[in-house]
Amino acid sequence: MTVTDKILTEIKQLRDDINKHNHQYYVLDDPSITDQAYDQLFRRLQKLEADYPQLRTEDSPTQRVGSIPATHFDTVEHELPMLSLDNAFDDDEMMAFEKRLKERLTHQGAELSYTAEPKLDGLAVSLLYEQGVLTRAATRGDGNRGENITANARTLSSIPLRLQGKNFPQRFEVRGEVYIKHADFKALNEQQRRSGAKEFANPRNAAAGSLRLLDSRVTASRPLTFCCYGLGIVEGYELPVSHFERMQLLQAFGFPISPYIKCLSGIEACIGYYQSILATRDNLAFEIDGVVFKLDDVEQQTRVGFVSRAPRWAIAYKFPAQEVMTKLLDVDFQVGRTGALTPVARLEPVAVGGVMVSNATLHNMDEIQRKDVRIGDVVIVRRAGDVIPEVVSAVIDQREGNLVLPRMPENCPVCGSQVSRAEGQAAYRCSGGLVCSAQRKEAIKHFASRKAMDIDGLGDKLVEQMVDQGIIDSIGDLYHLEIHQLAGLERMAEKSASNLKTALDNSKSTTLARFIFALGIREVGETTAESLANHFTSIEAIQAADIESLQMVADVGPVVAENVYQFFQQEKNRLVIDNLIQQGVHWPAVTAIENHESQPLAGHVYVITGTLEGLSRDQAAARLKAKGAKVSSSVSAKTTAVIAGEKPGSKVTKAESLGVKVLDQQAFQSLLE
Ligand code: IVH
Repeated sequence: MTVTDKILTEIKQLRDDINKHNHQYYVLDDPSITDQAYDQLFRRLQKLEADYPQLRTEDSPTQRVGSIPATHFDTVEHELPMLSLDNAFDDDEMMAFEKRLKERLTHQGAELSYTAEPKLDGLAVSLLYEQGVLTRAATRGDGNRGENITANARTLSSIPLRLQGKNFPQRFEVRGEVYIKHADFKALNEQQRRSGAKEFANPRNAAAGSLRLLDSRVTASRPLTFCCYGLGIVEGYELPVSHFERMQLLQAFGFPISPYIKCLSGIEACIGYYQSILATRDNLAFEIDGVVFKLDDVEQQTRVGFVSRAPRWAIAYKFPAQEVMTKLLDVDFQVGRTGALTPVARLEPVAVGGVMVSNATLHNMDEIQRKDVRIGDVVIVRRAGDVIPEVVSAVIDQREGNLVLPRMPENCPVCGSQVSRAEGQAAYRCSGGLVCSAQRKEAIKHFASRKAMDIDGLGDKLVEQMVDQGIIDSIGDLYHLEIHQLAGLERMAEKSASNLKTALDNSKSTTLARFIFALGIREVGETTAESLANHFTSIEAIQAADIESLQMVADVGPVVAENVYQFFQQEKNRLVIDNLIQQGVHWPAVTAIENHESQPLAGHVYVITGTLEGLSRDQAAARLKAKGAKVSSSVSAKTTAVIAGEKPGSKVTKAESLGVKVLDQQAFQSLLE
C-alpha cells in the first residue's frame, strides 16, 4: 500500500496520543481516558503499522509496554522482560487464538490444555527470592526496567518474606498482581474523604498510588493484596512442565494464587469458563477486567514464543468495560429518606459492564466541584461490583464551549421547602421533614425493605402510589391498611391485596435489631442496630439512654450517639413506636451479649449460598449470629464453612478449591441444634 500524508499524520497523532495516555496512566496514576477508548487507539495504530510495515519504528508505543518509570525510585532492570498480554474481545478472537497456536505447533489430535484464571485489575510486580528470602521487589515499569519498591512490597502481608518448606529454587522470581478489594477500597476512600485527602478514582489507581509511595509506612497502612500468576527467572530447580502445576508449587511455597484457577482442555471449555466468571463478576470481592488463558505446557509455550510485547501463548479475554465515556445531559436532585439531596447525572444511555446505564450518582456538591463536572461534558461513568453507577470524572480535553457547573436548587424539587446545609456537612437537606412526600416515601420503603421489616410485596412503586394517593402517610399507617383500600391501586388484584395484608401481618414478628434498623435513624445501619439491640436488650432502654451510655456500644461514635439520642427525644417518633407495638409488632427477648467468647459458635465465620428450605438467607444468618458466629458474604481461607442450599453459586466451587467445608441444609440444622 502506498503511504499518503493522511496516513503519516494519523500514525503520528495516534503515537502522540497513546504516549500521553500512557504517561497519565502509568506515571501519574491518573488516567485521562477509559481502557476501552485506549484499546481502540492502540488497535488502530497496530493495524496501520501492520498495513504499512515501512512506518514501524522502535519507539512506537506498540513496541513497548507502558511507559518510563518515575524518577524517584531506583531503577531495576528485569532479567526477563515483563510482558503484556494480547486481548480478545469475542469468541471468534478466542477461536483465532487457538487456531494460531495449532498452526505454530502443527498440532493435531487431542485438545490443547490451558490454565485459566481471572485477570485481576491491579498492577504487576516482580518479586525476587534468593535462598528463600525476598531480596527485591519491582514494578513492571516499561517492561524492561521498573522501580525498586522492595520496602513497600515488604509491607504486604500476602507477600511472603521467606518461603515455606526447604525445597525451593536457589534464586527465582515470582510475578503477580497487587490489587485492592472492593470493600477495602470503599473503606480507604472513606478514610481519605474524612481526612480531606483526594479520593481515588478506582481500586487500580489506589493500588498503584499506594505501592509507589516513597514512605513505606504509608504503604503499610493501605489495604494492598497480592496474588501471583507466574514466574520470571528460575535458577537451580527442575520445575514441572505444566504451568498449572507450577502454580500449585508456588502455592506450596506460600504464595497466594487465584482460588478460581483451573486447567481446561480446548478453547470451548475456555469460553465456557469465561462465561461463568463473567456471571459472577459483580459478586466477586475484587475487580477483574477479563480472564487470562495460558497454554499450559511450558514446552509448547517456548515453541510458539513471543511477539514484541506479548507472548503468543497467552491471551486476555476482556470483559465489557466497567468505565466508559458518555455525555452528561443534565443533573437532577433526588431527595432521600433523611432529606439529603443527591445530585443524579442524566446520561446519554451507554453500556457499562454489559448493562445499559442512563443515570449515575454524582454523590454531593463537593464532589461535583472537586471533579469539575459540568452539564454537557463528556464524562467517565463507572459501574463495578454491586455499587450504583457513578460519574468518576469529566474528560476536560473534550470540553467544548462555555459549560456551567450544576447548581443546588434553593427549594426542594419535591415539596418546595427550603434547602439548607448544616455546617461541616457535605449534604444539603430539604427542611420539609415529614411534610416532604419524598422523605415519607423513602422512610416507608426503608421500613418495608428486606433487611428491615421485610414486608414481602411492598415494593418501591407501590409505596409511591400509596403515598401519592394519600392512602398512607407514614410507617404508622401501614398496619391499619384495609384490603378495600388497596383494591383501587394499579396492578393490585384482590389476590395480591390479600397477600400484602398477610405479609404485613407476618412482618409484625421481627427482631429488636431489625426494628431499630427499620426506624431509619440517620447513620444507624444493620450492624449498629444489632449492636444497640444486643447492648440495651429493650426498646425502652434504648429510648432512655443518654449520649454517654449510647457511646458505650461497640461501633457507636459521638455522631451516631447524637443521632440516636435526638431521634428518641422527638415525641412524634416515640408515638410512632408505641403505635407500632400496640398494633402487634413484637420480637423475642434479647439476652445481653456481653461475652462473645462464651457463645457456642464464637470465632466461626460462615458463608450462606443458594436457597434454603423454609428459611431466608437473612433468617439463617440471624440464627448463626445468635450463636455468636460471624456471617460473611465472601469465601476465604478464614471461612469455617459454606452453608449451601439449593442451586448454590460459585461460592461452593471456591470453598472446595480452598479446602473449606461445605454444609448442606441438614448439616446446617444439626449445627444450630
Ligand atoms: S500473565 C506473560 N496473568 O495483566 C504474561 N497477567 O495485560 C504476563 N494481569 O501485566 C501476564 N491478572 O498486570 C497474567 N492472571 C494474570 C493476570 C495478569 C492480571 C495483568 C498483569 C499484566 C497485565 C497484562
